[in-house]
Amino acid sequence: MLDAYNGFLGNAYPWVKAAHLTFVIFWIAGLFLLPRFYVYHHATAPGSAEDRAWIERERRTRSIILTPALIIVWVLGLALAFNIGAWSQGWFHGKLLLVIMLSGYQGWLGAYGRKLARGDRPLENRTLRIMNEVPGIMTALIVVLVIVKPF
Ligand code: HEM
Repeated sequence: MLDAYNGFLGNAYPWVKAAHLTFVIFWIAGLFLLPRFYVYHHATAPGSAEDRAWIERERRTRSIILTPALIIVWVLGLALAFNIGAWSQGWFHGKLLLVIMLSGYQGWLGAYGRKLARGDRPLENRTLRIMNEVPGIMTALIVVLVIVKPF
């Protein structure tokens, strides 16, 4: 592994890492928030004023928090990875797999939100609540991989 400060980021490395973590927090906060909104949205009658209010709140959460945070976390994370030559390290392969899955989960959330906006309620409440646990579990696994680096 390269010494972190000898990479192309030089002394900016810890600043980029700090920015990475800040946007990780924004991203995960959005991933906790949006499926919780969906649970409340499920309880509304399609076409009602409440239904329309949830559609707008969800749209704003996706466009103001989730999409920009996902892009910035990826750009800064990849910069860190190139800087320290992470590509050959086992923990990084594991992390990459999990962040790809988490990004896919966000894609699924977007698709589910479009169904809700059309008046569909495809999942049972219980299933939706179980899906809400995905970001928490993924976050715990990613943090262990990055901090403990077990392999
Ligand atoms: C989206 C793609 C991502 C990429 C490519 C990426 C890549 C990286 C890299 C290369 C580092 C530097 C590791 C080191 O200096 O040892 C790092 C730091 C870190 N990342 Fe990410 N990351 C991503 C997303 C995430 C997510 C989603 C989380 C949390 C859920 C996360 C949590 C962390 C933490 C806690 C650190 C600090 C580790 C330390 O103290 O060195 N990252 N990331």
